[in-house]
Amino acid sequence: MNRTFKASVVENKKLINNHYLITLNPAVKIRKPKPGNFFMVAVDTGLDPLLKRPFSVHRWIDGNFQLLYRVVGKGTKILSEKKPGNVLDILGPLGKGFPAPKKNRQVILVAGGLGVAPVFSMAENIKNRAPLLFYGTKTKKSLLLIDEFRSLGIDPTVSTDDGSFGTKGNIINVLKRYLTRNSLPVTRYVLYACGPEVMLHALSHLATEYKLKGYIAMEQNMACGIGTCLGCVVKTRKGHKRVCKEGPVFPIEEIVWD
Ligand SMILES: Cc1cc2nc3c(=O)[nH]c(=O)nc-3n(C[C@H](O)[C@H](O)[C@H](O)COP(=O)(O)OP(=O)(O)OC[C@H]3O[C@@H](n4cnc5c(N)ncnc54)[C@H](O)[C@@H]3O)c2cc1C
Ligand code: FES
Repeated sequence: MNRTFKASVVENKKLINNHYLITLNPAVKIRKPKPGNFFMVAVDTGLDPLLKRPFSVHRWIDGNFQLLYRVVGKGTKILSEKKPGNVLDILGPLGKGFPAPKKNRQVILVAGGLGVAPVFSMAENIKNRAPLLFYGTKTKKSLLLIDEFRSLGIDPTVSTDDGSFGTKGNIINVLKRYLTRNSLPVTRYVLYACGPEVMLHALSHLATEYKLKGYIAMEQNMACGIGTCLGCVVKTRKGHKRVCKEGPVFPIEEIVWD
């Protein structure tokens, strides 16, 4: 199976301010990505930007795949200008994805901001397990995929920093209140999360406090994406690990937060 391939843009749709959903059609057969896997995308054929950019797989639809991305700099700006028919060089799928939950576990999905992209992929994969979803964003305007989650039978518990939708405040506090109210033994839950580092850090504190197990998808700036440059290492209880190779998904208790 090919790991480097060309893919043509089918659609590149603006969803909300600075957020886009791109649908790509690989020119060759590629391995179906797992939730939590990512692709390295060359946003242009020139030398600037030189490096491919990493994006989590958001959806896989009949051999096409979708990435959900936010414009933050030069690379993502160029990507946002791609039109149907444009061809991109891509590497992937890469990294270790989310492992399947064990039987009888109540899955709790936790998404912060654009972490919702891989979390949706996981939700779609395990929708028959009736996962719970805790989803936090800055404001109502930056909420994404609410209808799509509902069409999977998942009713998201939402919080926004400004209180414009759902509970005001951060989603980890909302999850904490849920756990205190519920009598299910903690060993019955398993967490699957992606979001800003500050959210993952808070979630790992909560997991320690409540003795919860689970998995988090980490982000680091990446140069190669395949484990050779060592530019993406994080500190773990088992030594330094590469987010692109041993991750991006790690057991929540494994990450050492400085
Ligand atoms: C495994 C993985 C999966 C990712 N999945 C997604 C995704 O699904 N959707 C998405 O929009 N983005 C995702 N990212 C982040 C994405 O790769 C960066 O936003 C992108 O590379 C920025 O490129 P740029 O050229 O536009 O910005 P740059 O010009 O490279 O940087 C602009 C600004 O963005 C910051 N930035 C760059 N990379 C990151 C990062 N990884 N995290 C936070 N801030 C960053 C820089 O520090 C700088 O302030 C992922 C990153 C990783 C490592
Ligand atoms: S990005 Fe090069 S080792 Fe991870």
